[in-house]
This record gives sequence, C-alpha cells and structure tokens, in this order.
Amino acid sequence: MRLWKWVLPGLAAGLAAAWLGYPRLAWVALTQPIRFSHSVHARQDVACTACHANAPGGAFNGFPSIEVCAGCHPDPTGGRSEDEKEADKLVSEYVKKHKDVPWLSMVREPDHVYFPHAPHLSGKPAGCASCHPDMAREDYPELKRNRISGYLSRTMPMARCRACHQSSRAADDCVVCHR
Ligand code: HEC
Ligand code: HEC
Ligand code: HEC
Ligand code: HEC
Ligand code: HEC
Repeated sequence: MRLWKWVLPGLAAGLAAAWLGYPRLAWVALTQPIRFSHSVHARQDVACTACHANAPGGAFNGFPSIEVCAGCHPDPTGGRSEDEKEADKLVSEYVKKHKDVPWLSMVREPDHVYFPHAPHLSGKPAGCASCHPDMAREDYPELKRNRISGYLSRTMPMARCRACHQSSRAADDCVVCHR
C-alpha cells in the first residue's frame, strides 16, 4: 500500500516527462551552410526556375549550381552587416573555389517514393505554392530531421499526395508512387 504512494506519482511524472520531452528529443535541428533568404532574392526579380531548373526527363534539378550565385556575387562586398558578411562567406568559401554549396533539403521523400516534378507542373496543381509554402515570402525557415523516421520537417505525407490524386482524378494505385 505504501509502495503505491510513491510508485504511482513516479510513474505519472515519468510519463509526463516523456510526453513533453519526446518532440524535442525526436527532432534534430540542422543548419544550412549559407544563410539564404528567398524573400531578399524574390525582390531582385529572379525567377524560381533560374535557380531550380527542370532537368530533362522531368526530374527536378534541386538546388542551383554555384555559377548561378556567382553571376550576382562575383566579389566580396566588404560590408559589415550580417547579410553582407554572409554574402562574403559565399564568395570566399564557394564562388572563388568553384564549389557548389552543399544545401540541405527539408522536403526530400524517402527512397521508396517516386515523385517527378514534371507531371505536376503541366496540369492541374497550379504553381509551386500548391505544394510548397509561398517561398517568395520565406526567410531562413527552420530545418529539422526526425531521428526515428528520418523524415524532414516538410516531407509531404502520403495522405496529402493521395488526397490530391483522388480529388483531381489522377492515378492512385500504390505502384504509381512506389516503384
Ligand atoms: C540576380 C542576382 C542574384 C543572384 C542570382 C543571387 N543573388 Fe544573392 N543577393 C543579390 C542581391 C542584390 C543581394 C542584396 C540584397 C539587399 O541587400 O537587399 C543579395 C543578397 C544575398 C545574401 C545576403 C542576404 C541573405 O541573407 O540572403 C546572401 C547570403 C546571398 N545573396 C546568397 C546568394 C546565393 C547562395 C545565391 C545562389 C543560390 C545568390 N545569392 C544568387 C542578388 C543575387
Ligand atoms: C537565387 C536563387 C533562388 C531563387 C530565385 C529561388 N530559390 Fe528556392 N532555393 C534556393 C536555395 C539556395 C535553396 C536551399 C536553401 C534554403 O532552403 O533556403 C532553396 C530551397 C528551396 C526549396 C526547399 C527545398 C528543400 O528541399 O528544402 C523550395 C521548395 C524552393 N526553394 C522553392 C522556390 C520557389 C517556389 C521559388 C520562386 C518563388 C524559389 N525557390 C526561388 C535558391 C533559390
Ligand atoms: C505536386 C506538388 C509539388 C509541386 C506543384 C512542386 N513541388 Fe517541388 N517538391 C515536391 C515534393 C514532394 C518534393 C520532394 C521530392 C523528392 O524528395 O523526391 C519537392 C522537392 C523540391 C525541391 C528540392 C529538391 C531537392 O533536391 O531536395 C525544390 C527546390 C522544389 N521542389 C522546388 C519547386 C518549384 C520551384 C516548384 C514550382 C516550379 C515546385 N517545386 C512545384 C512537391 C511539389
Ligand atoms: C496538388 C495536387 C497533387 C499533389 C499534392 C500530388 N500530386 Fe501527384 N499528380 C497530380 C496530378 C493532377 C497528376 C496527373 C498529372 C497528369 O496526368 O498530367 C499527378 C501525377 C503524378 C505521378 C505520375 C503518374 C503517372 O501516371 O505517370 C506521380 C508518380 C505522382 N503524381 C506522385 C505523387 C507523389 C509521390 C506525391 C506526394 C509526395 C504527389 N504526387 C502529390 C496531383 C498531385
Ligand atoms: C500519390 C502517391 C502515393 C500513393 C498512391 C501511395 N503512397 Fe504510400 N507513400 C507515399 C509517400 C509520399 C510516402 C512517404 C511519406 C509518408 O510516410 O507519409 C509513403 C509511405 C508509405 C509507406 C511507409 C510508411 C512509413 O511509415 O514508413 C508505406 C508502407 C506505404 N506508403 C504503402 C502504400 C500502399 C500499400 C499504397 C497503396 C494502397 C500506397 N502506399 C499508395 C505516397 C503514396
């Protein structure tokens, strides 16, 4: 009887700690090699596809090569603001060394999923923002990876793919997305 007086509160406290601590422990925060702002660059009137080109065959090229950045950032600014220092880091560590920035993805799907951009850009889903947030307004979004599932903060869940496929009458068999 006396035991329960201690065991039950202990158990409850343990459960509470796990419940509150789990979300924090499960996600690892990641940092991009360069702190890059979409909204700053959207103001320069650069098209999304200047940096994210469509590769032949419909696969998405992912991230821009360093030549794209070098076109506008050939030399250091020598400025002292945080933004200027970051742009200068880009020049000294990547542009001058002709090295691509090893950007981290926050949306990549697991390997068993087949997702081509091409069919999604021609037809019904209207524009990038039907699946991605409005990037032109984004600055330095939080980037996280789940330790247990390996999923990234913005990996699109299967339910969302399928909901759209069903409502737009696109193919929805397992083998369409898993091959
Ligand atoms: C069309 C020209 C253009 C291209 C292409 C371009 N930039 Fe910029 N970038 C600018 C301008 C102009 C500014 C300064 C904007 C301001 O101060 O308002 C800037 C600012 C920056 C900054 C500091 C502000 C911030 O936090 O984003 C970084 C870092 C940067 N650029 C990185 C890059 C990288 C990385 C690439 C290639 C993926 C790139 N830029 C491609 C024109 C460009
Ligand atoms: C000047 C080059 C540049 C332009 C213009 C640009 N992007 Fe990006 N984009 C990047 C870079 C560099 C990254 C990786 C760093 C980051 O996520 O901030 C990125 C990341 C992304 C991602 C996240 C991908 C991932 O795996 O995390 C999406 C989605 C995206 N861009 C969409 C867009 C859209 C939509 C537009 C047009 C509104 C656009 N981008 C314009 C350079 C650019
Ligand atoms: C139908 C939904 C959908 C639309 C529309 C869409 N995307 Fe994506 N995008 C995704 C998914 C899902 C991924 C992850 C793909 C993967 O991991 O195979 C992705 C990945 C990306 C990436 C990261 C590539 C990488 O290597 O990690 C960029 C950049 C990107 N998209 C930009 C764009 C741009 C720019 C547009 C508009 C021209 C666009 N997307 C339209 C769903 C979409
Ligand atoms: C916003 C709506 C929307 C979302 C979200 C979406 N899709 Fe689609 N998808 C479509 C439409 C519509 C088509 C058919 C396009 C056509 O036939 O021209 C399509 C076609 C496809 C195709 C080609 C099918 C074929 O017959 O060749 C694949 C593969 C695919 N989607 C995978 C995915 C995956 C994986 C996801 C989630 C990561 C996803 N889609 C999310 C609307 C969407
Ligand atoms: C329209 C695209 C699409 C279709 C259709 C689809 N899936 Fe998926 N599936 C995904 C995506 C994207 C993921 C990864 C994200 C996630 O786990 O939610 C996934 C994940 C999975 C996983 C792994 C879940 C995990 O936790 O690791 C299994 C198992 C799976 N799907 C089975 C199926 C089966 C069985 C069908 C047919 C009844 C099916 N899928 C149809 C897109 C699709």
